[in-house]
Amino acid sequence: MADFEDLQDGKNFYLDVPQTSPAFGLKGCGSLEWGMKNRLARIFDPSDGHTLMLAIDHGYFQGPTTGLERIDVVIPPLIPFADALMLTRGTLRSTISAEMQKPAVLRVSGGQSILKELSNELVAVDIDDALRLNASALAVQVYIGGVHEHESIRNLSQVTNAGNRYGIPTLAVTGVGKELTRDARYLGLATRICAEMGAHVVKTYFCERNFERVAAGCPVPLVIAGGKKLPEFEALQMAYRAIQEGAAGVDMGRNIFQCEDPVAMVQAVRSVVHGKESAAQAYDLFHTLKASRRTSEHV
Ligand code: R5P
Repeated sequence: MADFEDLQDGKNFYLDVPQTSPAFGLKGCGSLEWGMKNRLARIFDPSDGHTLMLAIDHGYFQGPTTGLERIDVVIPPLIPFADALMLTRGTLRSTISAEMQKPAVLRVSGGQSILKELSNELVAVDIDDALRLNASALAVQVYIGGVHEHESIRNLSQVTNAGNRYGIPTLAVTGVGKELTRDARYLGLATRICAEMGAHVVKTYFCERNFERVAAGCPVPLVIAGGKKLPEFEALQMAYRAIQEGAAGVDMGRNIFQCEDPVAMVQAVRSVVHGKESAAQAYDLFHTLKASRRTSEHV
């Protein structure tokens, strides 16, 4: 039975203080539901609206990718420096501790391999399973201009509709086939279509010219993939320029986990994404961390 003893009338109603209506600053996301916003706020740091998502989902179509042969060994030391982890349900269940405090962005499309047509994907994960795994967002690949463009947009719609029922945002990943040019015109087309179809976040590639137009034309946060492994300075420069030109962060994989020192590299990328460091400062940080880690290994 409820305790009715010593019930007192409330006194502190702060009658002279208007109730605050908390704003939600993430681009294009102000009208979303509370649960959706809360999940996005776990991925994008509310202090600057940026994110460093660590992408380790590559095995879903290319098997044991270089650097990801043993996710259980390589990835745990990187997790403290990432804002979110993008991965498949198989990797999440089998190799990542359930005590992880970072949000999981769950890849839910797949169904092809590097041996076949890459755009031929299906929705491989039910919303029920995503909920069981406590996913903070659902990632689906969209191949604008690809052989299976229509099916991939259908996958995006299906995933977004399911996620919307439960307040789970969708990350649309713009997949590019070998035959497509990654210029601002193409990336602008692909990212805008994803956002118009309801994606809450869009992942794309950086382009040297007019990336700011791609970012401006996409009404929701844009994050960039790292793409193939580059020399560290170039990767940091790309991340820096993307942020300066309107990206809300990176969803980077190979340029971190294929680096000679992934722990140093993830911190260097973080300093660009969150620390407002220039590429040169981040590169210095990379070398300092790498050197100090080497020294401590030899002590
Ligand atoms: C690619 O299809 C995967 O979704 C990767 O997560 C994505 O390409 C980002 O990884 P990376 O920085 O290695 O390009």
